[in-house]
Amino acid sequence: MKTIAILTGGGDAPGLNAVIRAAVKTAVGEFGMRVVGIEDSFEGLLGQTHTRELTASDVRGLLPRGGTILGTRNRGSFVVRQKDGADLMPDEVYREALDNLDRLGIEAVVAVGGEGTLAIAHEFHKRGFPIAAVPKTIDNDLAATELTFGFMTALDIATEALDRLHTTAESHDRVMVLEVMGRHAGWIALHSGVSGGADVILIPEIPFSLEQVAKKIRERDAGGSAFTIVVAAEGAKEVRGDVMYLDRGDRTGAARLGGLGHYLASELGERTGKEARCVVLGHIQRGGSPNAFDRMLATNFGAAAVRALARGRSGVMVALHAANIRTVPLEEAIARLKTVPPESQLVRTARDVGISFGAPDEDSHHQEGDK
Ligand code: F6P
Repeated sequence: MKTIAILTGGGDAPGLNAVIRAAVKTAVGEFGMRVVGIEDSFEGLLGQTHTRELTASDVRGLLPRGGTILGTRNRGSFVVRQKDGADLMPDEVYREALDNLDRLGIEAVVAVGGEGTLAIAHEFHKRGFPIAAVPKTIDNDLAATELTFGFMTALDIATEALDRLHTTAESHDRVMVLEVMGRHAGWIALHSGVSGGADVILIPEIPFSLEQVAKKIRERDAGGSAFTIVVAAEGAKEVRGDVMYLDRGDRTGAARLGGLGHYLASELGERTGKEARCVVLGHIQRGGSPNAFDRMLATNFGAAAVRALARGRSGVMVALHAANIRTVPLEEAIARLKTVPPESQLVRTARDVGISFGAPDEDSHHQEGDK
């Protein structure tokens, strides 16, 4: 194999550039390959094509740099559309991309991305094109790997935000709501809530009741703690509610979640008579430099993906299992999301230290724990 390419898809995450750097260094230095960077995810393979050569000097200094030097797209031309309950695959789009890969002399691709990008990578593999994937999402919701890079950095940022919000909450006797990312999974909210000392954690996996959250705030007041910190994943929902959308999506159908934090602050303020404010952490938790762990994981993933291709593997994703990097079939990787098990150990610990999940049956959980 003489020439491989690399692309980044989905939302940016701290560590993307570290993956690119490791892949280029491994491919060039270890295997004597030429590396092409494909810009704006798979979209760069269409039309005029947007690619550029990546040499060892092009990736110098990338390790601590946030974002992706190749650009990225959340969704686009390769997305499967549904019609009458059936999947419609944009075949002509794949054909065009495959022709362009052939014309550019690219023999294999490293695709770095989340669930959407992995699904597209799997389609290329099924069409006979060698591809290895690197999992990326700050939400950490891919089942086939214990961790994705970017998550730990997001966690650091959310935890620092909670620390800082404590100051205002305590000084003003307020309810402070922090809305963090997490469409389908509450990992960021759960982990940062525990490490940042939140009083209430709301996650998609445990539907909440506003009254239960208000009750927690009143109990804290009665117990002499006149402030409450709530951390909510953007995809959390009320027991009899749905997730909240900022909008229903653009022409590619990517709906944007949002609005939960402001809704919570307003409702909880009403119900408790306290001043309540909301902070939406948003893209701050995805931006900037990766922490040490994410640099290491991203480097490990980038090098392992190139090694997999060099060994003739295709249709695989690199994954972290018990501190080792393995490869798993892409098919398996896209089959299942990793959500927080409502009875998991960290949820139990959170409840043990007095954190509420706003569940209507919360009191019975505590009684269970008391037995
Ligand atoms: O990576 C997924 C994610 O972080 C979600 O939690 C969030 O809803 C989404 O990205 C937001 O992405 P954007 O606003 O950039 O489309």
